[in-house]
Amino acid sequence: MAMSVLVTGSHGRTGKPVVKALSNQGAVVTAFVRDANQEDEMKTLGASKIAVGDMDDPKTIKSALEGCDAIVHIGPPMHPDEKTMTGHFVSAAKEAGLSKFVYYSVMHPLRREVRHHSLKLDTEEMLIESGIPYSIVQPMRYMQHLEPIWKKVTNEGVHAMPFNTHIKFNVVDLLDLADATAKVTLDDGWLYGTYELAGPESLSQTDMADIISTVISKPVTAEQVPIKAMQEKAKAGGASDDRVRQMSIMNEHYDAFGFLGNSRILELVLGRKANTFEEYVRRLSTQG
Ligand SMILES: NC(=O)c1ccc[n+]([C@@H]2O[C@H](COP(=O)([O-])OP(=O)(O)OC[C@H]3O[C@@H](n4cnc5c(N)ncnc54)[C@H](OP(=O)(O)O)[C@@H]3O)[C@@H](O)[C@H]2O)c1
Repeated sequence: MAMSVLVTGSHGRTGKPVVKALSNQGAVVTAFVRDANQEDEMKTLGASKIAVGDMDDPKTIKSALEGCDAIVHIGPPMHPDEKTMTGHFVSAAKEAGLSKFVYYSVMHPLRREVRHHSLKLDTEEMLIESGIPYSIVQPMRYMQHLEPIWKKVTNEGVHAMPFNTHIKFNVVDLLDLADATAKVTLDDGWLYGTYELAGPESLSQTDMADIISTVISKPVTAEQVPIKAMQEKAKAGGASDDRVRQMSIMNEHYDAFGFLGNSRILELVLGRKANTFEEYVRRLSTQG
């Protein structure tokens, strides 16, 4: 029988491809959303139904889990209440007797200087000690951070991020992460494992600019956005003071240490090669 899975954060950047991948792999998906108006969109992605609720409200969480076998919990990014909110889902899932809790963490949660990494480490500990059957996925920085600046990159030939242009990241394709998360959820062979999921190449901004340049047949150069400019842009976009502070800490940390990883685990879970940055950029360039 198909596994019934609740996906939280389902209307977000990560949640949508995870819903789609789970549904493509045969799960019956319930999408946990805050807004009932998101029902049609979630159904188009493959969800069977929605459960309207709030991660801060245990009552709505309890009713959302009714009839589910498993949960994939994707918390909102950089949220100060990551552990408390996840705790509501862990308690409710345990009470409901779910057979698996999949926690969407981050690669290197042990980088304690970055608050949302550190909070995910605390949350992983809480989940493991809860006694519920679990799997943890630890994704690297997404290739998809290119998307919001794609027009600027293609129009102006400038690939600008708030890091120095030579520091390297094993950026990973979100579609690979979604496929891998679905596989870990639906196959009990992955139970009680923690999986670092990184992309196949260590790339600096300069390397990425060169790859983009090849794909779009136009010169593209890498530039470092000063932290102050990043902060002003985030504030203008409506980010809270706390979010802007956490973004700054994260970017300064990545700027100093980079973010390297190994793609072997991702490829083991996928049963195929992980997508390269060039493959991702070619896909993006055909989407316009
Ligand atoms: N970006 C990366 O490179 C990266 C790498 C590794 C791990 N991650 C992790 O991926 C996770 C998801 O990030 P994302 O970029 O996909 O986030 P996102 O696009 O901001 O989506 C977050 C979702 O959570 C929902 N949400 C927020 N607060 C809620 C609440 N109180 N109750 C119910 N729903 C709530 C939002 O609902 P609305 O649609 O109603 O706003 C939204 O759909 C984060 O935990 C992040 O740390 C990201």
